[in-house]
Amino acid sequence: MEKVLHYLAQNEPRFIRELSEYLRFPSVSAQAKHAGDIAACARWLADHSRALGLEAQVHQTKGNPIVTIRTPRAKGKRKPHFVVYGHYDVQPPEPFDLWKTPPFEPRIEGRSIYARGSTDNKGQHFAHLKAVEAYIKTGTELPCDLTFVIEGEEEIGCESLPPFLRKHRAALRCDAVVVSDTGMPDKQHPALTYALRGIAAMELKLHGPSRDLHSGIYGGSLDNPAMALCQLLAKLRDKNGRVAVSGFYAGVKSLSAFERKQLARLPYNAAQYRKFLGVPQLFGERGCTAVEQRSARPTVEINGLTSGYQGPGSKTIVPSWASAKLTFRLVPGQDPKKILRLVARHLRKICPPTVRLEISEGHGGEPYLVSPTGPQAQAALRALKAAFGREPVIMREGGSIPIVNEFRKILGADTLLLGLALPDDNLHSPNEKFDLDNFAAGSRMSAHLWQELAKRD
Ligand code: BES
Ligand code: ZN
Repeated sequence: MEKVLHYLAQNEPRFIRELSEYLRFPSVSAQAKHAGDIAACARWLADHSRALGLEAQVHQTKGNPIVTIRTPRAKGKRKPHFVVYGHYDVQPPEPFDLWKTPPFEPRIEGRSIYARGSTDNKGQHFAHLKAVEAYIKTGTELPCDLTFVIEGEEEIGCESLPPFLRKHRAALRCDAVVVSDTGMPDKQHPALTYALRGIAAMELKLHGPSRDLHSGIYGGSLDNPAMALCQLLAKLRDKNGRVAVSGFYAGVKSLSAFERKQLARLPYNAAQYRKFLGVPQLFGERGCTAVEQRSARPTVEINGLTSGYQGPGSKTIVPSWASAKLTFRLVPGQDPKKILRLVARHLRKICPPTVRLEISEGHGGEPYLVSPTGPQAQAALRALKAAFGREPVIMREGGSIPIVNEFRKILGADTLLLGLALPDDNLHSPNEKFDLDNFAAGSRMSAHLWQELAKRD
């Protein structure tokens, strides 16, 4: 282990240069114009891994390619097998003018590297790859067999991955999946995440008059779809911050005393948090702490709202339609399909007859929960402690990684979520960055993890 850790420390500057190369690919999965960049990025990752002595393949799919990387297998020796999952696709970088420097020209400032995809997710899975490199280059035997599965459609719904997992089920059968694609509360608190929220998306459109109308000539004699939409949406949440759809909370279990105690250990300062978010006052479900509200409780969010005239100056109209994009974040006990059905039924019931309601259901993902006290979780906590030199916390995350449920269903494997993202890393926002200390600690954590997971306790 000494040799592995020494190698990681010695080669850190080169790792950062290599990560910069990886970050230069604008592998934006949402935009068709980047299909060539997606393919080139997948190829680069496979070539890079082959140069390290790993077996790498680029698998074509109906969508974007999936890269698999295997550590050399020792003949006749059965070692525990782990899949390391990550994604090389990134969110769109827009709006460009809010970036201090271009999103695909990585820039190092202090101990951060700025680029789209640096934290979400290239830097995080690259840290694991560098740990494997350290084992290989120092001639240290890896106590586990590893298969990296790095996909290119995470940010657009992971469509190609489930069929890929089914097709390669035998080769991917494993003891657990390891994913570094979540966060930690701050640099002093490495974290094991044991729950993720699920998600259910829908779009509403209210149709009013057959065309935009003069609001002076007609206003007052017909309903205004934008107003009706506001009134409808306002009824989705009560003043205590709870979702006001009957049946929404059926199946939601309240947190155990143990969990509340664990979550209360996480660093949190209300004044700092308020300032960090830039809001005049915080708001959330009454009776729950902010940490609970953003990770362990379900919510409704309006993600987008559109109606009427959006240009400069004023235009006096009654708009012909109004629409909203909604997502519900879900917790264990809630099923995205059922939730969409309940919400649709509720909206139809309360929608006034003065407008026509159109509902389109969007994507969904189930929530995830795994025991934080099992032997694999304990091994992960030891690896975090060894790498960061600090006592790790266990936490729930508010974000969603729906594919982890497919790992459970198709591969029968639980997922260890060992995230390296900091709250100010700007995931999905302009000026995304990755902390270089976390990059280094992430590689050390990975190096320790395979030792710890191989111990039978
Ligand atoms: N890496 C994130 C998820 C994440 C980030 C979880 C931080 C926890 C903490 C992932 O790439 C993501 O953005 N997921 C989407 C999924 C959705 C589009 C189905 C999300 O959570 O919005
Ligand atoms: Zn993301």
